[in-house]
Amino acid sequence: MSGVSTEEADQLYASYAPHVTKGLGRSTEGVIKKASGSRVQFYDGREVLDFTCGIGVTNLGHCHPKVSAAAAKQCMNIVHGQCSIAFHAPYLQLIERLLPLMPHPSLDSFFFWNSGSEAVEASIKMARTVTGRQNVICMQGAYHGRTFGAMAVTKSKTIYSEGVAPLMPGVFSIPYPFWHQCGLPPATSPHTLVSQSLYQLDLLLAQQTAPKDTAAIIIEPVLGEGGYVPAPTEFLQGLRAICDKHGILLIIDEVQSGFGRTGRFFAIEESGVKPDILLIAKGLANGFPLSGVISRKEITDKLKPGSMGGTYAGNAVSCAAAVAVVDAFKEENILENVRARSTDLLVGLNTLRDDPAVSPFIIDVRGRGLMIAVEFTPSASGTSHDPFAQAHSPKSFASRVAKRCIEKGMLILTTSVYEVVRFIPPLNSTKEEIEEGCRIFAEAVKEVVKEG
Ligand SMILES: Cc1ncc(COP(=O)(O)O)c(C=O)c1O
Repeated sequence: MSGVSTEEADQLYASYAPHVTKGLGRSTEGVIKKASGSRVQFYDGREVLDFTCGIGVTNLGHCHPKVSAAAAKQCMNIVHGQCSIAFHAPYLQLIERLLPLMPHPSLDSFFFWNSGSEAVEASIKMARTVTGRQNVICMQGAYHGRTFGAMAVTKSKTIYSEGVAPLMPGVFSIPYPFWHQCGLPPATSPHTLVSQSLYQLDLLLAQQTAPKDTAAIIIEPVLGEGGYVPAPTEFLQGLRAICDKHGILLIIDEVQSGFGRTGRFFAIEESGVKPDILLIAKGLANGFPLSGVISRKEITDKLKPGSMGGTYAGNAVSCAAAVAVVDAFKEENILENVRARSTDLLVGLNTLRDDPAVSPFIIDVRGRGLMIAVEFTPSASGTSHDPFAQAHSPKSFASRVAKRCIEKGMLILTTSVYEVVRFIPPLNSTKEEIEEGCRIFAEAVKEVVKEG
């Protein structure tokens, strides 16, 4: 049962949508009536396949029955058990569930907040407090959020911070080992990219921020809003070694890549690298607002009680939902499904790339698990001298493909300032749903190619 009638929804949209801030972007108009699993229904009658998962959040599909039931049950016990006043059981149950899943056993101290940006803010505050150092190094191409500290370490698009400087001081950046960021050709070997980025880090520590002034390095193990680019293991290991040498904390932001998205519980597992601070959010509670900052007791014991907190931090309903998410992962063999569907998706996208009518327009199909991107050649957009300005525009090739997909019945998103469309399907998608997504995408790409 949905909340309002079609007439009421139409009236609400007509009367109140114009009152929503223009600062909020939107992929499609209309009002959602209902969503279940991989499908979203609109009041105007459209039913679409959702390959966005609300930007990597509803990883187990919309309104997963076990998650919704756990949240509903919790609503009748306690909704808001303020975490600085007393514990509620789901908070502790969630720690019980997460402890064995940590990518390193040293990660044993938890703080839950609401959003990814808040988790990023908390990690920077924690790193500055415990090291007594000011500066933070981030990656060019990174996205960590839109609040002031998070915005300062976000380097994927100027739109997030345009016109609002000064941002948080003490932020330095190096290129992510991605050929665009290093200004090298697409075929550059991962080893060369890694050497280039680590060389820039050495220079940065020698020329701009001395190790004894550097509190932390923050990195997404798979660049999300910067273009869906996995960091080579060699790079993550290189960062770990530099952090160990200088007593710098390594903050691993798995807000988008965590919770099974890449086929492992956490993307960092593939490298074997130990985070000093791990950030989680999005898929953690499958749509209920919840994030986590996880570190070692040895680090967090240095924090003064009361220095961390927040009115809604670690909400009881969100924590109960997250407990159900972790249980569903095990009961429903989600990670195995991610790996199988990843193969299906890559087969579908690579088949499209091999089509002679399309191949000149695709330079890359990449990613891990069900965090996959297709990058189109910059020249696909036309003849502008400024390919990055084009990628921002609705006229870009990637934006036109995404729009076509939506018209054909699949929600899908672009990412980065490059010509990239990303696939973020539910982790429990069926083979048929992945094939349907690939078919819609192929039709959309071919139409945009034809359109010129
Ligand atoms: C890697 C990463 N970090 C942080 C954030 C910010 O999270 P939120 O939008 O919940 O504040 C995002 C959001 O997309 C993200 O992808």
